[in-house]
Order: sequence, then C-alpha cells, then structure tokens
Amino acid sequence: MKPALGLALLTLATVPALAAGLAGQEPGPVMRGVPNPAQARTDYQLKCQGCHHPDGSGNAVNTPPLADETARFLHVRGGREFLGQVPGVASVDLGDERLAQLLNWTLYRFDPQHVPADFKPYSAAEIAKLRKTPLRLDRLEVRSRLVADLARAGLAPK
Ligand code: HEC
Repeated sequence: MKPALGLALLTLATVPALAAGLAGQEPGPVMRGVPNPAQARTDYQLKCQGCHHPDGSGNAVNTPPLADETARFLHVRGGREFLGQVPGVASVDLGDERLAQLLNWTLYRFDPQHVPADFKPYSAAEIAKLRKTPLRLDRLEVRSRLVADLARAGLAPK
C-alpha cells in the first residue's frame, strides 16, 4: 500500500514539470502577466530582436540593451510610462493584449534582477492608454532624464 501511494504522489509531482518541459518553457522567474510565454517569444523574435538582438544586448551604435537594464526604469517616476511609450513598443503592430504580454515578458526575460518585487504587470488597458501618446523626438530627452534619476538612485545602467 505504502509504496504504491508514494509512487502515485511522485507521479503527480512530476506531471507539471514534464508538461512545462514539453511546452518548451525555460526555467526561470515566474512571469506575471505572461499567459503565453511561447507567443511572447515569437513576437519578440518577429518584432523586436532585429534591433535589440536575440539576447537583448542591443548594439552600441543606436539600440540600448534590454539585458540588465530595462527593468531599472520601473524604479524611477515616469519610467513605467516610458517603457510603454518608446516608439519601438508603442507603435508595433500587435494588439494591446499581446503587447502587454510582450512587454512583461521582455522585463522578466532580459532583466529579472531589476523587476521590483511588487511589480504589477502591464495590462492591456494600461498599454492602450500609453500607446496613444507615444514618444517621438522627445524620447531621447525623456530617456536621459530618467537615466539621470536612475544614477541618483544608484541604479544607473552601465
Ligand atoms: C527599429 C529598431 C527597434 C525596434 C524594432 C524595437 N526597438 Fe526598442 N528601442 C529602440 C531604440 C533606439 C530605443 C531607445 C529609445 C529610442 O530612441 O526610441 C529602444 C528602447 C526600448 C525600450 C526602453 C528601454 C531603453 O533602454 O530605452 C524598451 C523596453 C524597448 N525598446 C522594447 C522593445 C520591444 C519590446 C520591441 C518590440 C515590440 C522593440 N523595442 C522594438 C529600437 C528598437
């Protein structure tokens, strides 16, 4: 009786892990606001990585890295809005729901160490609102102001 029960429990415990493995999910942080990580990854590959690169490293000439940087913006006032208003994000041809998921995924995938513990994932409604007022030529000025605030907070990107 006992061994059988033990086996049954072991099997139950293994099933979710196997299912996650089969779905191609990577071990890592729990991604809140990302109901479909596989879709977010594909969206990133199609819409973002041409500039930001597959590993989020960007390029030194004109695209800032997402890796180890992007979630820092969540720690200064206006940073959360900024992430939803940069042109690459705001103007992408994805619906609000998909874009909210993609932005949440981007934060967890490339900069989990800076995602605040109490991070509230972007919702479709918030994204819909932010992308109505995308940054344009003012984006560099806004970004420099945020980076200066980050430096004051001891969180300056490298
Ligand atoms: C045409 C190149 C390009 C594409 C495509 C692009 N980005 Fe960007 N991204 C940039 C540049 C350049 C910046 C710096 C701000 C600016 O000048 O717009 C930036 C800034 C950002 C930022 C703010 C972080 C920072 O350090 O400024 C985030 C977040 C971001 N991009 C995510 C995305 C996501 C998600 C996608 C896909 C939906 C995407 N980007 C597509 C070029 C691009």
